[in-house]
Amino acid sequence: MQEVRVSWEMPVAFTTDLFAIDNLLLRDTVIRQEQTRCHRLLVFIDAGVVEADNTLLTRLSAYCEHHSKHLKLVCPPISLPAGEELKNNWQQIEFMLTVCHDLHIDRHSYVVGIGGGALLDSVGLVAAIAHRGIRHIRIPTTVLAQNDSGVGVKNGINLFGQKNYLGTFAPPFAVLNDYKFVESLTERDKICGMSEAVKVALIRDRIFFSWLEKNASRLQSFDANAMQHMIKRCAELHMHQICHGGDPFETGSARPLDFGHWSAHKLETLSDHSLRHGEAVAIGIALDTHYSVRTGLLEDGLDDRVCVLLEQLGFSLWHPALEAETNDGKLALLNGLDDFREHLGGKLTITLLRNLGEGIEVHNMDNAQIVHSIKWLHNRFLSKTRTSRNTSTTGIATDRVVRTQSNQIDNR
Ligand SMILES: NC(=O)c1ccc[n+]([C@@H]2O[C@H](COP(=O)([O-])OP(=O)(O)OC[C@H]3O[C@@H](n4cnc5c(N)ncnc54)[C@H](O)[C@@H]3O)[C@@H](O)[C@H]2O)c1
Ligand SMILES: [Zn+2]
Repeated sequence: MQEVRVSWEMPVAFTTDLFAIDNLLLRDTVIRQEQTRCHRLLVFIDAGVVEADNTLLTRLSAYCEHHSKHLKLVCPPISLPAGEELKNNWQQIEFMLTVCHDLHIDRHSYVVGIGGGALLDSVGLVAAIAHRGIRHIRIPTTVLAQNDSGVGVKNGINLFGQKNYLGTFAPPFAVLNDYKFVESLTERDKICGMSEAVKVALIRDRIFFSWLEKNASRLQSFDANAMQHMIKRCAELHMHQICHGGDPFETGSARPLDFGHWSAHKLETLSDHSLRHGEAVAIGIALDTHYSVRTGLLEDGLDDRVCVLLEQLGFSLWHPALEAETNDGKLALLNGLDDFREHLGGKLTITLLRNLGEGIEVHNMDNAQIVHSIKWLHNRFLSKTRTSRNTSTTGIATDRVVRTQSNQIDNR
């Protein structure tokens, strides 16, 4: 019996103004292992990021020019239309692989991804499979990518109508988080990533959950200090699980960071990706928190408390896809449990809650109780909508939840 042990060094750094000439973080990251030579960089960038900041490409080129002793762009940064469409498009993966091939990107070159979770997942896959693995630097630009997806070890794209069907576990060479990117996000995308913070707080850190509750109104108005604390604490909790949880490549049956995700992944597909990942996760958290209460695992009332926090942050906790049916009249969402089990293999393992800050693994979910939980969410949504209609006729402003709900519905 032989044993292979591989250890990875993966810095996750926080900075502001990453491409300012005197910010040495990117340069020092690249030369971490070989300080004397000039390194080749191929950059793929989210078109949404380029659109939001028309000086970015110039600043990035000027940065590499200034540090030309160590950094060389092999071609101008390549902008790709991003969002979930990119993850649904195998041809874009082929395109990126072709670029790597044609520009002779080798295993000591760097493939840099700048963008949201979808772009990073796609570029990460390319970097992991070209030459069986090229050094990869992630520069996450959304809340969700900075506090969750970008700081992990997974990549992947959607195939056969299934989320993340094709992908690998491949720790990046480094992750560089620059809060400035978050400032140019739409309100919707600023909100999206906050559900992952609620998720990780609920399963790992009660104090962080209380902090989120106390700071909900600062987060609701995107106060920079509160947002930065939320992103950093969430990233720390994710990293801690990956580095110290004992199973970074998820070889067992448990997916401890995926609370609320069995339904979220299915909802993304069922809504034809009109629901963003973070929005679907918020609904998934609400569903599984109520399910935890219904099945006696969690104290009554805590479900409402979790929902109130998510709503204060700006999430809608209802979407018609929750009630979608298959051709044979079954509740389509329930297939999410099979997909979830099959994705990992082994025994179905779902994380539920036994307290705020404390997850519990179960190996079975009761379909009837799931249906009741969906009804509970629907009733909650209907009564909130009625209340907000009443308050708006009395001249009191409707809250952001209702605006977000109509956003999501408009975007379907
Ligand atoms: N690999 C993992 O472990 C992991 C974990 C969680 C989520 N994910 C994946 O992450 C994806 C969701 O990522 P996301 O929430 O970042 O959304 P996203 O990548 O779809 O980006 C949302 C939108 O924001 C735009 N954008 C990105 N950065 C911007 C900026 N700074 N300014 C203006 N616009 C900008 C993008 O162009 C896009 O239109 C999903 O595909 C999900 O499955 C992966
Ligand atoms: Zn997630």
